[in-house]
Amino acid sequence: MCGIVAYVGKKQAYPIIIKGLHRLEYRGYDSAGVALLKEEIFIYKKKGKVSVLEQHVEGKNIESCIGIGHTRWATHGEPNDENAHPHFSGSTDIAMIHNGIIENYAPLKKELIKRGHQFLSETDTEVLVHLIEDIQQKEKVTLVEAVRMALNGVIGAYAIVVMSKNDPETLIIAKKSSPLVVGLGENNSEFFIASDATPIVEYTKNVVYLEDEEIAVLTPGKEMHLMNIKKQEKTPYIQQLELNLEAIEKGGFEHFMLKEIYEQPRSIRDSFRGRLNVNDGIVSLGGILDYEQKMMNAQRIIFVACGTSWHAGLVGEYLFEDLARIPVEVEYASEFRYRNPIINENDVVIAISQSGETADTLAAIELAKSKGATIIGVCNVVGSSISRATHGGSYTHAGPEIGVASTKAFTAQVTVLTLMALRLGFKRGTIPQSRFRQLLSELNSIPDKIQKLLNHSDENIKCISSVFKEAKNFLYLGRNYTFPVALEGALKLKEISYIHAEGYPAAEMKHGPIALIDEEMPVVVIAVKGASYEKVVSNIQEVKARRGKIIAVVTEGDVLAKDLADYAIEVPETDELLSPLISVIPLQLLSYHIAVMRGCNVDQPRNLAKSVTVE
Ligand code: G6P
Repeated sequence: MCGIVAYVGKKQAYPIIIKGLHRLEYRGYDSAGVALLKEEIFIYKKKGKVSVLEQHVEGKNIESCIGIGHTRWATHGEPNDENAHPHFSGSTDIAMIHNGIIENYAPLKKELIKRGHQFLSETDTEVLVHLIEDIQQKEKVTLVEAVRMALNGVIGAYAIVVMSKNDPETLIIAKKSSPLVVGLGENNSEFFIASDATPIVEYTKNVVYLEDEEIAVLTPGKEMHLMNIKKQEKTPYIQQLELNLEAIEKGGFEHFMLKEIYEQPRSIRDSFRGRLNVNDGIVSLGGILDYEQKMMNAQRIIFVACGTSWHAGLVGEYLFEDLARIPVEVEYASEFRYRNPIINENDVVIAISQSGETADTLAAIELAKSKGATIIGVCNVVGSSISRATHGGSYTHAGPEIGVASTKAFTAQVTVLTLMALRLGFKRGTIPQSRFRQLLSELNSIPDKIQKLLNHSDENIKCISSVFKEAKNFLYLGRNYTFPVALEGALKLKEISYIHAEGYPAAEMKHGPIALIDEEMPVVVIAVKGASYEKVVSNIQEVKARRGKIIAVVTEGDVLAKDLADYAIEVPETDELLSPLISVIPLQLLSYHIAVMRGCNVDQPRNLAKSVTVE
């Protein structure tokens, strides 16, 4: 949450920062602001998106080779101009941007007010920048030392960039629990700072990811000076970015979400590339090899995740129990971390996260680690905090996902979990050889099947969307492997079209939600071929008897469910175990088209953010 961009070097900072803020808008879009330095520090900030800030800045003097910029997802204080970042210190000599939460800001603020400080906003960030200046003046220390001392006194999460009028060629940055990456210009001639690498990739491939409690001083012409808040010197570890520019642009699609839905044949193939060998009947996952025995002998596997990643975890539960016969629990990371869970050294925790930055998931990992469990990550963003906090893991390789509503990350997570379940089942001898081979071959054919679905179903889904675009509520039903898909379908619709939607296990419907069904209620039923097909058909009958409108996702060639349904979307046939990978696609498209028809901002839905780095 909140995106940070900063630049210091010889180029004009403003265009670099604005472009970067657009790329980071997925992290929050309640307000945006920049601070630039020309003898004095000038701050321009506005409630709303980065484009509003751009209009506000038009005609103003924006010349500066140093600057900091921020796009906000509000935590402390409502979204308005005053609470927008950057924030000034009391003297206006220092400006700062911040991503995270300073949990003890209230007592700090009280103390500072007693000492005569006046605050213009309700933010925790303004308290921190005042504290830094207060320490600097009181202790007569350098700015970096004041930053260090202040950070020793705060509780919470931060990624900050500090700029001072008195040192116009230097940026001071620091982080704890919120991400921060530095791009290094040739011979340290310039530095790019951002919450993730997307604003940096077009300028340099050499980056340093800051570790928790590290502070860096960046002055062009000098090497990056890195230390931790205990004042220990550190050597920056320079990595090469693998990201390319094309991957973070829309490539002719109207929205990132649509592009990402259409990318799924490729992204799923990338997830199993080099890991799935159909000819030789092998699944290999290098990143978990060292922990494979531990996983095979685990007393229990616990998936921890949030949002869509939690839904992928539910699919994982079915797969792991079915194929590897290991007991699995799926936990919301936010609940798990606070309910004193019973964990021991024989447990394996699998953390699933697209961004690899979700604060609750990260905290759940630390908790399980402290109790001796082995932690495996399933992350999309390479080098992210979660991928670094885990013992081992497998990247999903879906490529950057920019649309706030997750699509290709979900199918890539399910693909990786399928590979893990297959590998563990094979090693434990819980899958017969022939079945193992059959599933490998079927998984290999999934990208082509999705491609076929994408080629043929869009018009039909658009028509269905136009019929139901004004509905007030939706019910999504699935059973067995498609129950998590029903949850995911409902979440997608809620997120981007703001229509209330519930996902339910089809059979559970009669224990409550059936009371809601009338002729106004569209019910999306995933009725693909599988062990519970007939039962789902009966559930469709129950909805029809109450005059509900059925939109059924059915297997190609299906007659029974298709005939009963008011509207049907056909999907290619696959093994039931892999059906989530295919049946989720029409639900993604349905929510996309409904949201577009309702005039919603598909890529940046209200109140949401893609990377939730606050608890
Ligand atoms: C936010 C996003 C969701 C995502 C969830 C978990 O709520 O809007 O799309 O599923 O966070 O994020 P993660 O990066 O951990 O998968």
